Amino acid sequence: MPLIGPKQMFENAYAKGYAIGAFNVNNMEIVQGIMGAAQQERSPVILQVSAGARKYAGQTYIVKLVEAALADAPDIPVVLHLDHGPDFDLCKACIDAGFTSVMIDGSHLPYEENIALTKQVVAYAHPRGVWVEAELGKLAGIEEHVSSDEHVYTDPDQAVDFVRRSGCDSLAVAIGTSHGAYKFKGDAQLDFARLESIGQKLPAYPLVLHGASSVPQEFVDMCNTFGGSVGGAKGVPEDILRKAAGMAVCKINVDTDIRLALTASIRRYLTEHPEQFDPRSYLTPAREAVKNMVAHKIRNVMGSSGTI
Ligand code: G3H
Ligand code: 13P
Ligand code: ZN
Repeated sequence: MPLIGPKQMFENAYAKGYAIGAFNVNNMEIVQGIMGAAQQERSPVILQVSAGARKYAGQTYIVKLVEAALADAPDIPVVLHLDHGPDFDLCKACIDAGFTSVMIDGSHLPYEENIALTKQVVAYAHPRGVWVEAELGKLAGIEEHVSSDEHVYTDPDQAVDFVRRSGCDSLAVAIGTSHGAYKFKGDAQLDFARLESIGQKLPAYPLVLHGASSVPQEFVDMCNTFGGSVGGAKGVPEDILRKAAGMAVCKINVDTDIRLALTASIRRYLTEHPEQFDPRSYLTPAREAVKNMVAHKIRNVMGSSGTI
């Protein structure tokens, strides 16, 4: 099937209390690992591309890789999404290139400017049938202690005003997650009361959780055992994410766990096989590690296994 937008996926996810995994892609092995997991689990999937990924791989390569994935797995519903679009021009470029969903990230801007920028993207995207995700509130920096940054969490009343005035189709909210491998210094916790309030004020509206990697200890340990230095890493526990997926959160973003799975596997392989220098030798288990991690996540965190 061709690329689709996330509307139907989110409606189903909202109604049945699960979430769609949105996985960041940067190269062929990552695309293949994620698609292998989606096929195994019979789950829809969102492949998302950051500005950095687009720069690294090149837009044409990324789009063609995703086209290859569709041809290879024609029965899997796939959305191609721009992650953290920084400005109108990049959103437009991705829409013109066939992306079916874009995020415009104006979360760092003053409120009215965030609305104006989001509106501009919506005005271009909607006539072309493209979905728009926006963000309100700020995720804490990766070194910060998220629970101390209450004022940057998404305000529920402002979220209602933002959605109404900007016309965005889904909203990324700040409730205590953050990007990267160092999310919490103390206990991991999210502001579920806030999430519930936003959900109640925006009925049937899909919310998005960024910074939702779990940072599995297994991969952190493997990185460290085989020459890495990933100290004090901590992610969002799986049961906490599963709870959010059962609420109004319909899209859960994962990038860091992919990086960890891939890198841990490559570190181990090269340490155990120092004579090897054929990239296929270490990228084959690395791709498999991504697949197994994503399959686990689809099953135990998203809850979207067996939904197609
Ligand atoms: O939210 C950020 C994603 O993990 C993408 O990261 O900009 O380094 O590709 P990146
Ligand atoms: P993680 O760094 O927790 O994987 O978050 C990824 C993300 O939010 C991509 O937009
Ligand atoms: Zn993000």
